[in-house]
Amino acid sequence: MMREGQAHTVYRADYQAPAWWIETVDLTFDLDPAKTRVLNKMRVRRNPDVPAQPLHLNGDELNLARVLVNGAGTSFKMEGSDLVLENLPEGSEPVDLEIFTTCVPEKNTKLMGLYTSNGSFFTQCEAEGFRRITYFLDRPDVMAMYTVTLRASKALFPVLLSNGNLVEQGELPEGRHFAKWVDPHKKPSYLFALVAGNLVAREQKIKSRAGNEHLLQVYVRPGDLEKTEHAMNSLMASIAWDEARFGLSLDLERFMIVATSDFNMGAMENKGLNIFNTKYVLASQATATDADYANIESVVGHEYFHNWTGDRVTCRDWFQLSLKEGLTVFRDQEFSMDMAGSPSARAVKRIDDVRVLRTVQFPEDAGPMAHPVRPDSYVEINNFYTVTVYEKGAEVVRMQSELVGREGFAKGMKLYFERHDGQAVTCDDFAQAMADANPGSPLAQHLAQFKRWYSQSGTPRVAASGTYDASAQTYTLTLSQHCPATAGQPSKEPFVIPVTLGLVGADGSQLPVVIRATEGLSAFANSATSHTVVLTQPTQTIVFEGVAQESTPSLLRNFSAPVVLEMDYSDSQLRHLLAHDADAFNRWEASQRLGLRIALQNIAARANTASADITDSALDANILPTPYIEAMRAVLRDPLLDAAFKDLALTLPSEAYITEQLDSVDPQIVHQVREAMRQQLATDLAADWAWAYEQCSNTGAYAPDAVSSGKRALAGHALLMLCVAARASGDKVWPGKTLQRFKDAGNMTDRYNALSALVVSGSELAPHALQSFHAMFKNDELVMDKWFALQAGAPDVDGSALPAVRALIKLPDFNIKNPNRARSVIFSYCSGNPGGFHRADGAGYAFWAEQVITLDDFNPQVAARLARALDRWKKLAEPYRTAAGEAIAKVAAKPKLSNDVREIITQAMNH
Ligand code: TRP
Ligand code: ZN
Repeated sequence: MMREGQAHTVYRADYQAPAWWIETVDLTFDLDPAKTRVLNKMRVRRNPDVPAQPLHLNGDELNLARVLVNGAGTSFKMEGSDLVLENLPEGSEPVDLEIFTTCVPEKNTKLMGLYTSNGSFFTQCEAEGFRRITYFLDRPDVMAMYTVTLRASKALFPVLLSNGNLVEQGELPEGRHFAKWVDPHKKPSYLFALVAGNLVAREQKIKSRAGNEHLLQVYVRPGDLEKTEHAMNSLMASIAWDEARFGLSLDLERFMIVATSDFNMGAMENKGLNIFNTKYVLASQATATDADYANIESVVGHEYFHNWTGDRVTCRDWFQLSLKEGLTVFRDQEFSMDMAGSPSARAVKRIDDVRVLRTVQFPEDAGPMAHPVRPDSYVEINNFYTVTVYEKGAEVVRMQSELVGREGFAKGMKLYFERHDGQAVTCDDFAQAMADANPGSPLAQHLAQFKRWYSQSGTPRVAASGTYDASAQTYTLTLSQHCPATAGQPSKEPFVIPVTLGLVGADGSQLPVVIRATEGLSAFANSATSHTVVLTQPTQTIVFEGVAQESTPSLLRNFSAPVVLEMDYSDSQLRHLLAHDADAFNRWEASQRLGLRIALQNIAARANTASADITDSALDANILPTPYIEAMRAVLRDPLLDAAFKDLALTLPSEAYITEQLDSVDPQIVHQVREAMRQQLATDLAADWAWAYEQCSNTGAYAPDAVSSGKRALAGHALLMLCVAARASGDKVWPGKTLQRFKDAGNMTDRYNALSALVVSGSELAPHALQSFHAMFKNDELVMDKWFALQAGAPDVDGSALPAVRALIKLPDFNIKNPNRARSVIFSYCSGNPGGFHRADGAGYAFWAEQVITLDDFNPQVAARLARALDRWKKLAEPYRTAAGEAIAKVAAKPKLSNDVREIITQAMNH
């Protein structure tokens, strides 16, 4: 028997089919916040394919009142928190079980299972929350048909929702009422949901292509209804997109979204009853930014797309999580790109996605929590809802789509559903369907090797070098791949790496690509000037023929594989790509390489100087070479480039991304170097920023489309830079204009950007603006989260950030039990404010330890997320490293640490 609190590792290799199936479940809930009674009647049957075993039902924090087998009492025992029934009838006949339990939703601070939030009931069952509601085979490969009856006080809980169709409702004695729901689809327990409370809905009737009618509903608290229009529009767009692009239609009469303010993650795809964090539902132009609008569209799409990729075809076990998450992220990314429209807007979305991958997933893949897209083991599955499983998993699906083509991918999806609809399957099954639907494709040719993307962790590095032979008119490119060792995986085999490439001529034209056929080299054309080479060997040489002029290779276009590309471009080659590459992604990439190079040179130059000497270093005012400044000015002034692209190209590589390139990191040096670069970019281009601001500051009536949100982004960026320039010059005009902009703004994007410019530039006008922002929005939780986050992320002036954060968590508006609010302050400081967090005295790390320990007592899932903020501590230079190690040891020493946090801390200490 497992002792409580003792970590237990689950291995993928140990998978065994369940000894029992559950065919039907009939649940009756008597909902009461203090004591909810759950009657679970289920019909179970032995799995004839495995040797007979007792029935082990999972449970967690349940009070068991009664167990009946075929209507009669029975003996049972407990193993840990599992309920074990050993004396069930032999044979293949179904067995009827009746299990009666109670639980305490109002005391459920983990927000897993059944809990209350603002007086309403919600559930969260993925991954293993259903066992906190009733005893069950709480694993995704056990799929059952559900009937659910909800009973509650009609006055307090007028709305009663569960999965599927409402078949009956009515009154009960003593002011209570009931609703009965039947889900027409079988599902695993993690997709179960119920909601009960005082909610209102925006409703929309739609007709599918097939002519079926559906009712769509978005449920929110009374008063929030006018903020649901964008979510409803996003849902309708998602439904139309999945039909048009993949032929997948809505398979339910009714599809519901419900918003709650207390939620551990973004949203959840429960069949027919998606439950969302309010952050990804509620929007009005007065309260939500363009980024919020885009996130809502993307998350609504994501959860809706799970209806097929997740719900109809689900995961055999939790190691296969990326089967549904990687695929569904790929689908939501494609959806957002298709919604964005123009090629340039698509590229902006791609750049945003790659930025997340490189600043969050690449570090994960190089750190103590490195794991393959399909992990091999875990202690706590909640710790594996990661950027590797989601974002890298999406890249692995994206590469498959590149290797079979857009049409081929649609064929693969069709075959996947023909084979696996209604099943719980594996990542292998998905890749096999893709390959089988596309015989002869590079994916089919290299399937076994391609699947290393699922089994090997770590970010491969591709080193490129080329030479031009003017007389032969050939350009010869050598590409070598190598993947560094990662936690638990000392050596790697070569990957299948699609490298999309082209040649940019010295005159700026895109040269025709002709690749010499070579034994063992697979390549295909995307257009006359862009081909994809499929690397399979450690080193491969590609010869381009008919190259009539000097050229610069444009490699890994559109980020065709999740790798680090090492190419010794000269600065002038990078500026050439920035000016002329036909691939918008690589134009942006050139801007980032230029910036990164300057940052790394200056960091190296300062590494031997004591931190204290740096701030007033004479070099700082001239950290940026003139050609770089001129290249950036050219981008900013380019009449053909979209504002959104300019905004991204003029954003310096983040501190996280710069840090990733270093073996030993002094976060203060990284911070100071980047600050100095930004200061000069602001000052030297001040006139250009002012021009850009005038060009973009007026976007007319608010609409969150790609073009006008791009303009607002560039206008906001310009204001920030103008305030940063003013900080150095003593100018008062731009901070004044920014404050006026803050006051006059017609939408939250402009208002927030102005406020942020004042705060981030350290303007003396910031405190006043923050105060008036608070006065305007103190009753809006989501806007107050922004208010908290902005201050927790504010620049550190002589150690000011930590005391400011300590003051924020003492405010009456702060509530650590609410995950959004905890994230807005604690995470914004520990993960989003490196200059303020990495203090030489270690006080930032001590604060982190305190907060991890505090959170762990009531919400281990959120605590474990915060614990990850220090998981790359071994990369830190002294004195940071020792101080971080002490903080980690302090967390490790906490009595009764959750498995969630213990797993993270153990990995951080051991790797
Ligand atoms: N499956 C959800 C998604 O769409 C993720 C999720 C939501 C989740 N809430 C959770 C995972 C709680 C674990 C625990 O990506
Ligand atoms: Zn998902």
